[in-house]
Amino acid sequence: MKNKRLVLAARPKGLLVKQADFRMEEVKLPALKEGEFLIKVLFLSVAPVMKFYMQDGAGIEAPLQLGDVMRGRGVGKIIASKNAQFKIGDIVQGKCGWQEYAICDGSPYFMMYKVRQRKLPYSTALGVLGMTGFTSYFGLYHIGELKAGDQVLVSAAAGGVGTTIGHLSKIKNAKAIGLASTDEKCKLLMEKLGYHGAINYKKENISERIDHFFPEGINVYFDNVGGEILDIALTKLKKYSRIVICGRISQYENSLNSSEYALKNWYKIGATRSKMQGFFIYDFEKDFNQAEEQMATWISQGKLMYQEDILEGLEQMPIALNRLFERKNIGKQLVKIAN
Ligand SMILES: NC(=O)c1ccc[n+]([C@@H]2O[C@H](COP(=O)([O-])OP(=O)(O)OC[C@H]3O[C@@H](n4cnc5c(N)ncnc54)[C@H](OP(=O)(O)O)[C@@H]3O)[C@@H](O)[C@H]2O)c1
Repeated sequence: MKNKRLVLAARPKGLLVKQADFRMEEVKLPALKEGEFLIKVLFLSVAPVMKFYMQDGAGIEAPLQLGDVMRGRGVGKIIASKNAQFKIGDIVQGKCGWQEYAICDGSPYFMMYKVRQRKLPYSTALGVLGMTGFTSYFGLYHIGELKAGDQVLVSAAAGGVGTTIGHLSKIKNAKAIGLASTDEKCKLLMEKLGYHGAINYKKENISERIDHFFPEGINVYFDNVGGEILDIALTKLKKYSRIVICGRISQYENSLNSSEYALKNWYKIGATRSKMQGFFIYDFEKDFNQAEEQMATWISQGKLMYQEDILEGLEQMPIALNRLFERKNIGKQLVKIAN
């Protein structure tokens, strides 16, 4: 059986990846060894952190070597197995890599989880009911310590993680305002995604608009972008606020050439007795099942909406990755690999 896969051919330079940074290969799948299983990949996910995997620079995981299959999470169906824990027909999500078929074993490296809910499309196992949604859920509720009545500000609100935070806030009787780069995204945040208001940070005065929505300030800032927007948010903190450091997409490129934005307003954390905390979603692994169940219930009750942005075909993976940095994606960016 043949497998198509995208391997790293060159380390990317600049903000966007090029087709030439990858090589499409077609290889014969080896026979399964004891403990292994074969996944037919249905959807693959892209995430900003993938640029780090491709570069030589520091990241959460080791950089890829040239010739390695691109690392990334996918959801798929097991079609052959020599592992008693993972049976033919199981739907799993984990590190599949950018390829049509993935051979995995149950070892921790692959971070393979069985997909339990079967009512929603399998794509949701990479979005709202996968690492992306779990990041919103644990980031907001555990790191952000969300309480009823809280006023929440969210950056990259129309991105994968951001799109569920409006409803997750509303469910706990808190109000969220989202920042996004276009009117189309802002409209979606308010009309579908549970946001109380939205700010087009490209054309509106961010500081004035935050004051307009939350004249007394904010209790929680959920930060996906870092840089200047984080600096502005720091000036809006109420006493005992929580700043959730989830990501810093505006600074990923700068961090590779040591030109990161230097915060001016960090002293506001002390002045307001606030807390700023980062987190890594895998730290919450033992509670993933609970989050999946809870969010699936809210979706079925119509309390939580989600948004996906799906391209089709393995060759679209580099384009999908670029869309995150070009600000083109609306919701969780995915690529459909097979029916
Ligand atoms: N801590 C964790 O464990 C964890 C887990 C998952 C993800 N993350 C982080 O969480 C963040 C969101 O992840 P995601 O996968 O859902 O990605 P995402 O939000 O869908 O990322 C793409 C969006 O980021 C915004 N963006 C892009 N370039 C920007 C820039 N220069 N300045 C400001 N905004 C920019 C754009 O939204 P606009 O068009 O509205 O600007 C774009 O649509 C990322 O920073 C990611 O690294 C962290």
